[in-house]
Amino acid sequence: MHKTIVIEPMTEGFILWRCLHGGPLSKNTINVLPKNKGDEWEAHRVTNIPLLKKIIKTYGTCAILARDGDQIVGFLRFYPKILYSMKEAGTLCLQQAFPTGPSKRLVDKNFPSLDDIHDRTLKVHCLMTGSPFQEENPYQRKGIGTRMARELMHWAKEKGWGRIETTANEDLGILYANTGQAGRRFWEKLGFQVVKTGAESRFQGDFLKKLHKQAVAHNLNPEDVHNQYTMHIDL
Ligand SMILES: CC(C)(COP(=O)(O)OP(=O)(O)OC[C@H]1O[C@@H](n2cnc3c(N)ncnc32)[C@H](O)[C@@H]1OP(=O)(O)O)[C@@H](O)C(=O)NCCC(=O)NCCS
Repeated sequence: MHKTIVIEPMTEGFILWRCLHGGPLSKNTINVLPKNKGDEWEAHRVTNIPLLKKIIKTYGTCAILARDGDQIVGFLRFYPKILYSMKEAGTLCLQQAFPTGPSKRLVDKNFPSLDDIHDRTLKVHCLMTGSPFQEENPYQRKGIGTRMARELMHWAKEKGWGRIETTANEDLGILYANTGQAGRRFWEKLGFQVVKTGAESRFQGDFLKKLHKQAVAHNLNPEDVHNQYTMHIDL
């Protein structure tokens, strides 16, 4: 099955304006909004579609998609690093309201063309294969995430970007399954190197307890689960 999956940059032909938490999405299902969170979904839709279209027009794309027939089963989102410095961008999470997600005013900002950008760095925002809430996920650990990352590297080099930056955590299954980021090993296999080790503050409560347990089972110092690695590759 996974060999027939097509990996391709997102185009205006299909705007993946939300994530795959509920399972794969297609042209027929992307606008069928989940019942939870009421009007919030519509607010994200109205903010994200014009924003993603403008980014695609300016830079070519901002996501690599994995497609199984007409179903999108994976994505890797990334943005020019310069966009993160705009206060209207929040942290650019498309499923959160500002200031975590983008403000609806971001689309009105001037996005410099690649020729006018001094720091030609792309930043990986998040990646996902299949749905984290499916009991069995037929799309994970089949090399699809790696294929999307390779496509990003190829696309970025061709366009003239100089560097790709990402953040990663330790290589524990529970972190791969929950954070929207891949582990350090995933990126090292692609040639990325750690350039900074910082502290992750978002793991708390029961999740943190489970994390500590899994770390011990993997002979890892439980304190290391808080490591957040900044990694990059020069193209
Ligand atoms: C991060 C993610 C995209 C990785 O994609 P993937 O297609 O499963 O990864 P790949 O098959 O290309 O894996 C490449 C390498 O990464 C590492 N890796 C991947 N998944 C791993 C896991 N669960 N545990 C440990 N290492 C893992 C391995 O080194 C693997 O190589 P191997 O299979 O030869 O050992 C995927 O785990 C994912 O979608 N996670 C869910 C994220 C999510 O939905 N979060 C919800 C909050 S937003």
